[in-house]
Amino acid sequence: MELRLNKLITKEILSSYKEDVKRINKMINEKSGPGNDFLGWVDYPVNYDEEELERIKKDAKYVRDNFDILVVCGIGGSYLGAKSAIDALKGLKSDDKLVIIFMGQTFSPNYVAQVLDYLKGKKFAINVISKSGTTTETSISFRLLKELLESQVGKEAARKAIYATTDKARGALKTLCNKEGYATYVLPDDVGGRYSVFTPVGTFPLACAGVDVDEFLKGAREAREYVDNDDLDSNDCYKYAVTRDYLYRNKYPVEMYVTYEPQMSQISEWLKQLFGESEGKEKKGLLPGSVTFSTDLHSLGQFIQDGSPILFETIINILNPNKDVSIPSDPEDLDGLNYLTGKSLSYVNQKAFEGTLAAHEDTGNVPCNVIYIDRLNAKSLGYMYYFFMRACAMSAYLLDINPFNQPGVEVYKKNMFHLLGKKGY
Ligand code: PA5
Repeated sequence: MELRLNKLITKEILSSYKEDVKRINKMINEKSGPGNDFLGWVDYPVNYDEEELERIKKDAKYVRDNFDILVVCGIGGSYLGAKSAIDALKGLKSDDKLVIIFMGQTFSPNYVAQVLDYLKGKKFAINVISKSGTTTETSISFRLLKELLESQVGKEAARKAIYATTDKARGALKTLCNKEGYATYVLPDDVGGRYSVFTPVGTFPLACAGVDVDEFLKGAREAREYVDNDDLDSNDCYKYAVTRDYLYRNKYPVEMYVTYEPQMSQISEWLKQLFGESEGKEKKGLLPGSVTFSTDLHSLGQFIQDGSPILFETIINILNPNKDVSIPSDPEDLDGLNYLTGKSLSYVNQKAFEGTLAAHEDTGNVPCNVIYIDRLNAKSLGYMYYFFMRACAMSAYLLDINPFNQPGVEVYKKNMFHLLGKKGY
């Protein structure tokens, strides 16, 4: 991964952050800052439980060989990592033999009813993921899925088709797993949901999708090695964190994540959750948004070019696609496209990127960071997730915020439980 910083960030600005970056990097490594009991993700790619990962690979092979569908049931950090990685690596029209569906991330009656109808009569397994084991969206969906599965295959066979990822000892889901004897994987105490993509929360669904999880973790390890360097001049991850901080303090309260691949739109969702839930506290923090170009150049593109000057862009540009299409010649050329004959769509997409970058930066005065990734694969994605997680911790600490809690999320829950008549609310 390579970062091209936006033009506003001078050497002097970077220099003014050097001491803070040193101090915070030390704090992250020594686990001494606010939320320090949730820094398990920092070393997880080297400290992970190897025996558990082997079991995950074996179980995933069993799922691939014996089922047609895997339903992954989780929300927030127990959902977005796997969803975003699977979309990015498999594409939006995957013809993989195992179909992966996500549920448990919504109360939507339409969505849930449609998924349940689709699963009727089909051979499916379930991976329920919840650290707390009590998240209402996930619990309701899991109850419905379990009931359907048991009614189709019986209680005994259902037990063998349910895989749970949760806390090692606590929570309602763990109690149920112990009682029913489901296969379980551990989301460690010191890793929060949105920092959990390298734990079984991510690796089990990814392995089921046929992704090489060893490569995924290898990418994370490489990023960890690269990032653990408190010299700002040679650390793109912390340069990115510092840039965000500088822009935030200089009248740019919105960061817009930009990709040119629709299969990366869930990566933008993951980024929005990571940064939004980590930083949006104490009336501080950048508001993360996202667009997929060129699609959204025909929608929010107008605002970005010409609207209120409140945002900067962070563009993730994939240099080489895994698949490409060449534009054919047409003898009549009625659509006037023959000037592109023989050119690939990736060439056109890159020109759209270059043209848009110049339009936004030079004409629109929109600050733009660009992150270049050579190609989407398990290793580069592992690298990317770790890079952003570490940048997020640095950014939040620069704002003096605990990146690892989410107190604001509880308010809606309390109100909802009261309205639903839950005991004690
Ligand atoms: O990042 C987080 O911690 C949250 O988004 C959680 O992952 C989310 O609320 C789901 O929680 P749980 O895994 O306990 O069901």
